[in-house]
Amino acid sequence: MSSNWKSFLALFLPCILVLLALESLLRPNPRERNYEAFTEMVYSRAAESLSPSASLPGAMTQQSVAPGVVIRGQLPFHYGPGPEEAQRAGRELLNPYTDEPHVLARGAEIYLRFCTVCHAGDGGGQGPVVKRGMLPPPPLGAARALEIKDGEMFHVLTLGQGNMGSYAAQISAADRWKVIRHVRLLQESVR
Ligand code: HEC
Repeated sequence: MSSNWKSFLALFLPCILVLLALESLLRPNPRERNYEAFTEMVYSRAAESLSPSASLPGAMTQQSVAPGVVIRGQLPFHYGPGPEEAQRAGRELLNPYTDEPHVLARGAEIYLRFCTVCHAGDGGGQGPVVKRGMLPPPPLGAARALEIKDGEMFHVLTLGQGNMGSYAAQISAADRWKVIRHVRLLQESVR
């Protein structure tokens, strides 16, 4: 055997022995988990929802939204209730939708589902619940409904007006704008 081989074995064999010794020392029972060196990687600190968590600010799992963040699908509505705010919405907000067929189709669907019960299919205000004693809404073809701008109507649907409640929880902002396009179409037909 050359001297090269000898020195190689002299180096290599002790290394193997040390590794085997370490292995049996750190993992005495092969049925058990390995020795855990960095436990942070093994056990995550993920918090249970709605339970306090020491690793989050204020120990709260549900953090409040950071200032300036807009939640997806929830564009802020910077108007309070009342007629003045409704008029301001009328001046400042524009309907993002035009009378494209898919917009009108969706608007008609929303109107049928949410508005017909009171306003009736033709907007005249004699829907089924009115026939059963509820105060009739003003006709959507009357002067006031014709005059109010889309933004003001959006305010009515978002925050309600008088006897009509808010529809913000049931109808998404996009659908509220689309149903307004349908109301405009109704108004054209009853004029
Ligand atoms: C529960 C019955 C009811 C439902 C459902 C309802 N409305 Fe109304 N709506 C009313 C009443 C009542 C008023 C009159 C409110 C007032 O000024 O006191 C009104 C007012 C309005 C006005 C303002 C009209 C005006 O002349 O001031 C608009 C526009 C309108 N509704 C649109 C809608 C649309 C669109 C829907 C469907 C998304 C809808 N409403 C669903 C009862 C209802």
